Amino acid sequence: MKILVTGGAGYIGSHTCIELIKAGFEVIVVDNLCNSSFESLKRVKILADCDIPFYNVDICDKPALIKVFKKHSIDGVVHLAGLKAVGESVEKPIKYYNTNVGGTFILTDVMCEFNCKTIVFSSSATVYGDPQTVPIKENSPLSAKNPYGRSKLMIEEFFQDIFATDDSWRIALLRYFNPIGAHKSGLIGEDPNGVPNNLIPYISQVAVGKLEKLSVFGGDYDTPDGTGVRDYIHVVDLAKGHVKSLQALKNKPQVFIVNLGTGKGFSVLEMIKAFEKASKKKIPYQIVDRRLGDIAICYADPTFAKEKINWKAEYELNEMCEDTWRWQSLNLDGYPRYK
Ligand code: NAD
Ligand code: UD1
Repeated sequence: MKILVTGGAGYIGSHTCIELIKAGFEVIVVDNLCNSSFESLKRVKILADCDIPFYNVDICDKPALIKVFKKHSIDGVVHLAGLKAVGESVEKPIKYYNTNVGGTFILTDVMCEFNCKTIVFSSSATVYGDPQTVPIKENSPLSAKNPYGRSKLMIEEFFQDIFATDDSWRIALLRYFNPIGAHKSGLIGEDPNGVPNNLIPYISQVAVGKLEKLSVFGGDYDTPDGTGVRDYIHVVDLAKGHVKSLQALKNKPQVFIVNLGTGKGFSVLEMIKAFEKASKKKIPYQIVDRRLGDIAICYADPTFAKEKINWKAEYELNEMCEDTWRWQSLNLDGYPRYK
């Protein structure tokens, strides 16, 4: 089965390509490299020991996408291309809606032209907004709080509408919790542009000495130690969730939504401790004001993922931190910055 991975050079995409190839899928990648480097794909090819056709194409460029679909008889799409910085989405909503929502419309249109009706989409736990209760089930209330989150919610609704009018589609909407970690080889991992927004990339850059200290955003949340609690999931577990979704979609046309999380929440202070243990480095930190738009607690109820796609996260926190550390310490500045 030939799978087009949009955003395949990115953090989740590079790990997903490897798991897809390991499971016997043929992979083709489309990515405009706006937030990634071709180097990640070179390394994926080494790790997967096979060639991966790559197209430097923007998902908003319909003629270019058509060329890719003409060249390869694509059976399904894992759609990860998109913009993901929450703060930037507030400043540049048009850019975010154009790329995330507009790009998805164009991609889907092209898929229809080629009668390709299988898609796995990268949604986010951000669609739950500030959850009223945890653990969060898939049928919990939805309330995205910013343009990034709303773009994910709109796309989920768009795919539900597509299925409502044409029930021959096979659609998986995956709500990721907080992916961290890296491939065991230390060859691929998360490589943020500039100063990281997210906790673990920030901590790992403190650990290698690139950043001085971590600012802990808020010490007065209603959580056991006052700092924010999240469901951190190993990126390789997440990648396997895409393979399992494609396998479940093979059974019959359907649309489903699943949470991809571990079901366990860890606070910022617990993450600092776990990372210190894995890296054997001290992480200096200072508790500062809360970050605008942050929530106190968010972790998944992953029961439905087990039922629906026979998937369960396997990696524990220590391995997530050890693997992040291996990647970061072997690649101090991430991938070489050529394209
Ligand atoms: P990433 O930025 O590493 O990967 C996204 C890839 O898409 C990049 O390689 C980028 O160059 C590419 N891309 C962006 N716009 C494009 C366009 N117009 N045309 C073609 N390629 C384009 O991010 P990631 O962490 O791997 O996330 C992948 C997907 O998962 C995103 O859609 C993101 O919103 C979603 N997601 C990520 C997280 C997370 O914490 N990492 C959580 C929930 C959901
Ligand atoms: C962020 C995004 C969210 C996205 C999620 C997926 C924001 C506001 N939200 O959420 O939309 O779905 O990533 O990965 O960006 N923290 C610090 N110091 C830091 C960085 C983070 O204390 O320098 C804290 C945060 O307050 C939070 C926890 O660490 O309690 C995790 O933060 P982060 O990694 O940014 O993820 P989310 O806040 O869950």
